[in-house]
Amino acid sequence: MILFGGDYNPEQWDAATWASDDALMRAAQVNTATVGVFSWALLEPSEGSFSFDWLDATLDRLHANGVRVVLATPTASPPPWFTLAHPDAMPVRPDGSRLWHGSRDTYCAAAPAYREASLRIAAELGKRYGSHPALAMWHVHNEYGTMCWCDHAASAFRAWLRARYRSLDSLNEAWGTAFWSQHYSSWDQVLPPRATQYLPNPGQSLDFRRFWSDELLARYVEQRDVLRSHTPDVPVTTNFMGPENLVMDPWSWGQEVDAVSVDHYLSSVSPLAGAADIAFVSDWARGVGLGRPWLLMEQAPSTVIADGVLSHRSPGRMLADSLGYVARGSDSALFFQWRASRAGAEMYHPALVPHAGADSRIFAETVALGATLSRLGEVAGSVSVPSSAAVLVDAASHWALQTRGLPSPHVRHLDVARALHGALWRSGIGCDVVAPGADLSAYPLVVVPAVYLLSSSAASCLRSYVAGGGQLVVTFCSGIADEQHRIWLDGYPGVLRDVLGIRVEEFHPLQPASSVGLAGSSGTGRLRTGGLWTGRLWTERLRTEGAAVLASYDSGDLAGLPAVTKHSFGTGTAWYLSTLLSDDALTALLGEIASAAGIVGSPPRVSVTRREASDGRSWLFAFNHGDGPASVPASGVDLLTDLEVTGTLELPPGGYAVIRERTR
Ligand code: GLA
Repeated sequence: MILFGGDYNPEQWDAATWASDDALMRAAQVNTATVGVFSWALLEPSEGSFSFDWLDATLDRLHANGVRVVLATPTASPPPWFTLAHPDAMPVRPDGSRLWHGSRDTYCAAAPAYREASLRIAAELGKRYGSHPALAMWHVHNEYGTMCWCDHAASAFRAWLRARYRSLDSLNEAWGTAFWSQHYSSWDQVLPPRATQYLPNPGQSLDFRRFWSDELLARYVEQRDVLRSHTPDVPVTTNFMGPENLVMDPWSWGQEVDAVSVDHYLSSVSPLAGAADIAFVSDWARGVGLGRPWLLMEQAPSTVIADGVLSHRSPGRMLADSLGYVARGSDSALFFQWRASRAGAEMYHPALVPHAGADSRIFAETVALGATLSRLGEVAGSVSVPSSAAVLVDAASHWALQTRGLPSPHVRHLDVARALHGALWRSGIGCDVVAPGADLSAYPLVVVPAVYLLSSSAASCLRSYVAGGGQLVVTFCSGIADEQHRIWLDGYPGVLRDVLGIRVEEFHPLQPASSVGLAGSSGTGRLRTGGLWTGRLWTERLRTEGAAVLASYDSGDLAGLPAVTKHSFGTGTAWYLSTLLSDDALTALLGEIASAAGIVGSPPRVSVTRREASDGRSWLFAFNHGDGPASVPASGVDLLTDLEVTGTLELPPGGYAVIRERTR
């Protein structure tokens, strides 16, 4: 079964509306409701006293209606009484100001009172609902990611640092405290990076992000373990924010959840940009779960917020986009939220049942989506076939590149990762998202997009990969510093210079609106298939040390100097991009590198992915994102139409199909 439904907040409504919800959920074939995410104040109206009547009634009613429940612990929004009883558990900002209740996510997760209260409500829920027949899954908390700079956080940070560094000498060395008289002579002097006079210490800032990722993970794990003690067989998850908000390190969190769950809100109204975004986020979610099927826990029906303005997805896109996630490993299409709220901070947030009610385009599309997903039940549980290309994504590099005082505030690891992933996607090449240090041996092509921090061991993995025959594409701002944000010396990127056959002497980042032209160099200009190449965001003064030059800067101080290079290393090849090529050039270049690596992609702007079950059955998902018709080799039955496909699937522009393949 593909899970379909979403966040359901019946506590905002009366009994007549509940009856309507039941009927509409049946009409839309909703099978899953996420309940209780923000219900703490109702469930525990005063400290230590509980009131479960409405939740009992809700679970019974959903069960009678054939809807399974993903039951949340409500710890993302402590009730007002909690603030008054435990003011020390309210979060403190870097400038020392303390926040009050009145919104949500207002707590310090390191505060003992918050931990205690969270575990208490989780235990009560585990005890009361562990054997309820509606219970399908536990949903701990909501979108972990709240950081705090208070004294509780400070002492937890110090404990974390002691475990990491063992001695103050190591910490001083790692943080480079010899600069600006920051040397610590006692652990008590070490603080979170609170507001200070000028630039903060980069190592301290980076470790604080790491600390909070681990601290929040510990908070998740302790709730999970309480729930597991009541229900050892019920899966436990927590919904991650999409990769844009890398507050935690997904690679460590992915191993602690029974299923990776992701919330994804599109930020573009363009169908093409949206489809590329869905592909990136889905590949990321699948990667975080090391290939397991994952859950799209929240998306917005119909609308997206682009630049703060509510904008509509065009009719039909809710369905096509939902299939886009399933094609890349999701076993669900869940939404925030079922029914649009009448009041409250998110009253204008779109919902499957909008303010207009069931007599609306959005609800009609909800019914159509439910009917479509009900045809795809057999796909659930199958795993995505691994891709030919891998893109490295690294939370620590993302955080470190946000440090103030770097050469450019405009270089974001995730933007560069998206740009390169998008280029592969436009070339019809499937991608997995992997962590630095992951086993790369199965991938003919690996992309390193502004992976700014590389430890010597992560760099060794890349070195062995190329030496053993891999094709490696590395961009600017990769391998510049070690895992503590200390520069690798003697020319950038110090830790990869031998593999790339280059040496960078100076960074010349560009203003956001600027770009530079590139010229193909004689003999190797055959790669210039994308028309005139341009670069933006970043340039640098580099010289080759064994690499061949594919393109050079055509003007300015860097005129004639290398911009894109290629180097044979062992039995593989390493390519270097010293600037962010325009989308067309990037697509052309990566397409050529992929085909040189023996990767056969689908036609441009056609996305073809495959999921396989352990018994050998397989399903092919094909989408035509282009402007003209497309043909895809396929044989089997289209689950969306029940039509036979023999040999070739024809897709009109915007068309898609899910083929149960003949045994291949
Ligand atoms: C997040 C939260 C939801 C809701 C949506 C709105 O994903 O989990 O509670 O606030 O954002 O987009």
